[in-house]
Amino acid sequence: MKIFINIIMFLAVTVGLHSCKNADVKSPTITAATQNDKPADYYKEQHRNQFHFSPEVNWMNDPNGMVYLDGEYHLFYQYYPDSTVWGPMHWAHAVSSDMIHWKHLPIALYPDTLGYIFSGSAVIDKNNTAGFGKDAMVAMFTYHDIHGERSGSSITFQYQGIAYSTDKGRTFTKYEGNPVIPNPGIKDFRDPKIIWDEANSQWVMVLAAYDKAMFYTSKDLKAWELASEFGIVGDTRLWECPDLFPIKVKGSEETKWVLITSIQKEAPNGGTATGYFVGDWDGKQFIGNTKNQKWLDYGTDNYAAVTWADAPNPTDEKSLIGWMSNWQYAQVVPTEKWRSAMTLPRTITLHKENGEYHLRSLPVVQSSKIEKTKYGIQPKKITESTVLSKEGIIPLQKLDLSLVPASDAVVSIRLSNAKEEYTVVGYNAVSKNYFIDRTHSGKVDFQKDFADKIHYAPVDYNTPSINMTIFIDHAAIELFADYGRTAMTDIVFPTEPYDKVEINSSGGGVKILNGSLTELGNIWR
Ligand code: FRU
Repeated sequence: MKIFINIIMFLAVTVGLHSCKNADVKSPTITAATQNDKPADYYKEQHRNQFHFSPEVNWMNDPNGMVYLDGEYHLFYQYYPDSTVWGPMHWAHAVSSDMIHWKHLPIALYPDTLGYIFSGSAVIDKNNTAGFGKDAMVAMFTYHDIHGERSGSSITFQYQGIAYSTDKGRTFTKYEGNPVIPNPGIKDFRDPKIIWDEANSQWVMVLAAYDKAMFYTSKDLKAWELASEFGIVGDTRLWECPDLFPIKVKGSEETKWVLITSIQKEAPNGGTATGYFVGDWDGKQFIGNTKNQKWLDYGTDNYAAVTWADAPNPTDEKSLIGWMSNWQYAQVVPTEKWRSAMTLPRTITLHKENGEYHLRSLPVVQSSKIEKTKYGIQPKKITESTVLSKEGIIPLQKLDLSLVPASDAVVSIRLSNAKEEYTVVGYNAVSKNYFIDRTHSGKVDFQKDFADKIHYAPVDYNTPSINMTIFIDHAAIELFADYGRTAMTDIVFPTEPYDKVEINSSGGGVKILNGSLTELGNIWR
């Protein structure tokens, strides 16, 4: 009977009927396979990333509610358990002790009669400000009322709700007073990210309100007051998934506040990307230069990236993860059982150089746990194609290179397979940029924008030598250059994994100062 009622209620939400207020609507859930009951072919499908997080089956988008509690990193994420394309959104859930090896847990939040559960965040309420219990995990998310959307009411169908867990995120109770922030008359009004503002003893929440961010404050996570707004005058691109946090500038005592916002179109290399501003927070307002938007990652596949709340980071570091896809093609990428993966988790740091603040991104130190055999690369001048990889090594690799390019060099690192499918990651010393060329990377014709051009990252700093670290997974390439000053993340779909790595350079060539190629392990077995 319960199952029957659940199915009816699920249909009610998906087809647009309203039923009793705030009741959970259960849809068929994924089996939460534990590390011990995995079938032999677990995570072995074509295009399945081996050291990046992905759901076992079905559709995933943004990381949500990332929070650390008692040795566990929680990763909730936008999930549709009934299909490999976007649909009624749930929060699925996984936990990890190191942000690298993950255990899938049952779905944490189901749609209810107030709507689908869109993106949001979670915090640990250490002082029990909300009265849900000491150390309660409190999640705040956007309710997306599909009936409102379908009824043509263009403005009132997104509002914010909260839910809490007193068993370390294993089960959640939705707050009976939801929504805690009604819609103020803005169609796109979503993705709340909460932070405890220590200096002002208050909770601060930032959300995306169409083409700007709106900041709210609260003493108890339930009653919220609008504090201010921040946006770029004249730029009407849609903002999503903001984040706000203080961070100490590396090597100094100065603290700045970073406002992250993902942008839904016309990112530097097309489609969607994660940007940020560096400024200050006075307890009510983010004070920053709206003309100074920077990009966290110049690849096309790092979206909705946000940081972990309450993680044991030093004051000059934050841990962050992004959705490794792009709305241009996310729903048609050629994977069969599931769609999407997350980026490698990253440590971000803030640096001040020539009066400018920049974030740097590097994989979290825990990612060294997946390293296996390391092969040294000898110093050498390169003027023709030279193979760096060994025969027969596993096609999951990390390449580290310190290079001195000639002033007219275009350095290319070619990753390829026996089918002659290849991706080139490179550096152009003339135009001063890094690039990723995936135009011949394998399956590319599933969507017109996927492989229509080379992706570039401008290098606006001086580097006599360059430093490249490239992670190669079955369906993802991540470049971290110059100690994190440049990051580029691109997904790829070679029909067989890339197992050959070559370096070449045009012009006066490139000198390898030193380097190594490291085989990487699988996080799922
Ligand atoms: C970003 C986003 C969010 C929204 C969610 C819905 O990718 O569009 O703004 O909350 O996805 O799944």
